[in-house]
Amino acid sequence: MSQALMEPFSSQLNLETGVIAQAQIIRRTLSDMRTMFADRAAAERILAEEGDRLIYEVYAVPLPEEEGQILHSTTIIYPGRVGDEFHMTKGHFHEKRARAEIYVGLAGEGYLVLQSEEGEVRGVPMQRGTIAYVPPLWAHRTVNTGATPFAFLAAWPGDSGHDYGTIEQTGFARLLVNRDGQPTFVDNPHWRR
Ligand SMILES: [Fe+2]
Repeated sequence: MSQALMEPFSSQLNLETGVIAQAQIIRRTLSDMRTMFADRAAAERILAEEGDRLIYEVYAVPLPEEEGQILHSTTIIYPGRVGDEFHMTKGHFHEKRARAEIYVGLAGEGYLVLQSEEGEVRGVPMQRGTIAYVPPLWAHRTVNTGATPFAFLAAWPGDSGHDYGTIEQTGFARLLVNRDGQPTFVDNPHWRR
């Protein structure tokens, strides 16, 4: 059986901002993530007093989510904190756990945070030019620990799938918070396996 030929194409990435022209844009606001920050009272206070807040945007190049494709997108995490905890992405395992991912830092500074199924946590600092590798089996999220937007390019196999539910239920075992101006990992009081 022969596969239909897909036309080659390119996308235009703004290396300074991380914006990909004519991409599909997904926006995540605080109201989408109100239970994901450890200080839920702080999240509710922000929503009540300031209204909703843009946490991050994803610019995805539209491609079929199937084996053989290499999906790619950029993410821009806006600076800020909810309580002491820095703005971050929701984080996920790949549905097919044995699928890796590559991140390339474009702007700002932050961390790639990874967690194994057993709850081991690792943090990889990222800045412009960093190539960070998510090996198979690790859940991953990114965190903006700087004062400017943190942007990076990501690429992953087309049949990876996304499992957001596990992280939504358990959270990450460790959180990245501001301690005296320094990004610091602390235990998540809400974490359960
Ligand atoms: Fe991923």
